[in-house]
Amino acid sequence: SDSPTYSIACIPADGIGTEVIDAGVKVLKTLSEASNSFQLEFEDYDWSSATYLETGKYIPDGGLENLKKHNAILFGAVGDPKVPDHISLWGLRLAICQPFQQYANVRPTKVFRGTKSPLRNCNTGDLDWVIIRENSEGEYAGQGGRSHRGFPWETCTEVSIFTRHCVERLIRFAFETAQKRPKKHLTVVTKSNAMRNGMVMWDEVALELAKEFPDVKMDKMLVDAMTCRMVLQPNSIDTIVATNLHADILSDLAAALAGSIGIAPTSNLDPTRQHPSMFEPIHGSAFDIAGKGVANPVGTFWSAAEMMRWLGEEAAADRLLECMENVCGAGVLTRDLGGSAGTEEVTNAVCDEIRKSY
Ligand code: NAI
Ligand code: MG
Repeated sequence: SDSPTYSIACIPADGIGTEVIDAGVKVLKTLSEASNSFQLEFEDYDWSSATYLETGKYIPDGGLENLKKHNAILFGAVGDPKVPDHISLWGLRLAICQPFQQYANVRPTKVFRGTKSPLRNCNTGDLDWVIIRENSEGEYAGQGGRSHRGFPWETCTEVSIFTRHCVERLIRFAFETAQKRPKKHLTVVTKSNAMRNGMVMWDEVALELAKEFPDVKMDKMLVDAMTCRMVLQPNSIDTIVATNLHADILSDLAAALAGSIGIAPTSNLDPTRQHPSMFEPIHGSAFDIAGKGVANPVGTFWSAAEMMRWLGEEAAADRLLECMENVCGAGVLTRDLGGSAGTEEVTNAVCDEIRKSY
């Protein structure tokens, strides 16, 4: 047939990562078979903390070159009690995001049917936000040092890096994202009162770019005030752009406000499309529930839907979201959402819903 084929690299990695990626692949295969309009090929990469403990490397030599041949990457979660978190994060996730210039980290939220916000006045469809996080530099640029280890005069620096090039490309992407949404509203979040260099440049770049997007309404907030606004005036928010650290924190808050960390997705995008982009649930490897078959796979399904959207399969993406929401709405929910279903039950229910929908 002449329908397109997409090659997907799967990196389940650690803990519940393997469980939710299995579930995600199953749902994607069902979607591609039922739609009969595109094919998916999956290749598994066993890069994980187990391979690190065995070989000293998360990514084997030449590994990144191999990854480049895929159209997209579906990632689980990395983190293991036997490996310090900064080693696992830098060894695998950042080791892909940074060289692949996946500079835009996109995190949508929404209160789904069947899920409940802890905010008293929030209903289904509310908290329809997109948070755009700088994903290549800032506070997580890895600059700094540590001297006199263990002595009382031990000294550390953790230097934030803000370059006009990276700030501009990210805020431009945020304006473009806001422009495509009905409300056309972008909130630029900084901390430009206390941080008087890089953050002030952020504000300036945002103001300059605003001129190119006259149809987008822009406002700016300090990050501390933004946490209050997210809780107290959630309906005044649409698209948010912030630094690597700030948006990391704000997006966890957003996920919690929307009902559970188990449903939130993340896209690590290279908007230039020179490298494959990477899609993953927002949550970590959750060792406390790993191996029990109770992990919520919905965050991975939503991530898979965003992956299909990025690949140009808009209709399939929307259908997957719809099916996922139908299943949640019908009360087939994992424990984190107050239900009693396991990963497999939710996955099978979404697959059935997909088949029924065609
Ligand atoms: P976590 O997201 O793994 O877990 C936080 C809490 O949420 C736990 O109680 C967990 O059971 C629950 N939870 C998370 N995902 C869930 C799901 N799909 N269904 C049901 N419940 C879920 O965060 P935590 O505990 O801070 O980190 C654990 C490990 O994961 C650490 O090693 C950390 O570095 C790593 N991590 C990795 C990330 C990634 O690979 N992108 C992101 C966040 C953390
Ligand atoms: Mg985080």
